[in-house]
Amino acid sequence: MSEMYTHRPVLLDECIEALNIRPEGIYLDGTLGRAGHSREIARRLSGSGKLICVDRDQAALDAAQERLGEWMDRVTLVHSNFDRVSEILDELGIAGVDGMLFDLGVSSPQLDDGSRGFSYMADAPLDMRMDRSEGLTAADVVNTWSQEELRRILFQYGEERYAPLIAAAIVRRREERPIETTLELVDIIKGAMPARALKEKQHPAKRSFQAIRIAVNDELSSVDRMLQGAVPKLNKGGRLAVITFHSLEDRIVKTGLGEFAKGCICPPDFPVCVCGRTPDVKLVNKKPILPSPQEIEENPRARSAKLRVAEKLK
Ligand SMILES: C[S@@+](CC[C@H](N)C(=O)[O-])C[C@H]1O[C@@H](n2cnc3c(N)ncnc32)[C@H](O)[C@@H]1O
Repeated sequence: MSEMYTHRPVLLDECIEALNIRPEGIYLDGTLGRAGHSREIARRLSGSGKLICVDRDQAALDAAQERLGEWMDRVTLVHSNFDRVSEILDELGIAGVDGMLFDLGVSSPQLDDGSRGFSYMADAPLDMRMDRSEGLTAADVVNTWSQEELRRILFQYGEERYAPLIAAAIVRRREERPIETTLELVDIIKGAMPARALKEKQHPAKRSFQAIRIAVNDELSSVDRMLQGAVPKLNKGGRLAVITFHSLEDRIVKTGLGEFAKGCICPPDFPVCVCGRTPDVKLVNKKPILPSPQEIEENPRARSAKLRVAEKLK
């Protein structure tokens, strides 16, 4: 069996249940990737049912034809950032959808294709762009951003405690010659860390690579803009399901959905409500849904996944 059929998407059953799919409904998968979730949505649709699949990586769309082959009659592929979800639906003439799924982060094909520069295990030009038609690469970030900016992203996006040492080492090295490849960067990161840090279980470059990838793809702002665009486009009763893989993303989703779930915002000492505000969504689960121990054993990448689900109320 080929890898595309054996691959099990993260929290698959939980997502399908969360989306409450109606065969005639309209759904949007904002992170097509290798179409694992999309296949399961598409095969549940019939009649006027539609699935819009979005990815900012053209490679994901190119592979979708084969992956979604038998259901392509009900699928529309869109090459775009999901932060344009509202505009994408407007451009397709769709006023509202019944469910949306966003499975954030990088896909396995992006990580496994050494030439994309996402992996600290394979030597490649420092790229890390999910959308290769965009301008900013990882090489631009490490060779042109100030030491202070590098320290900030390593610390904020990678939660890397050696951020100041690594940022200083990057700047020292690039004064000699530009840093061009992933393994060159791994060497610089390792060289900047104290010996005891190199003995930790996690790869020493993991946090820095995550930080640079988030910066290159402007990932956190995209998630925030996506929430603002997505919620107003859900039909009443429609569900929004978001899978995150690290605490920074999860915080944005939790806070963003929490805002939409808020009702009255009058000060607590007001005797009656004057704001008239009612919640846009209800949170389907108070706590995020986590993968089962069995899923984590079968797919270690699922370990840090968290699924949050909201339902549109009006
Ligand atoms: C974790 S993978 C999705 C895997 C997919 N659910 C599956 O089952 O195969 C994330 C995908 O989302 C895409 N992506 C990440 N951020 C994006 C954004 N802001 N806009 C559009 N696509 C994005 C990536 O290019 C990648 O293909």
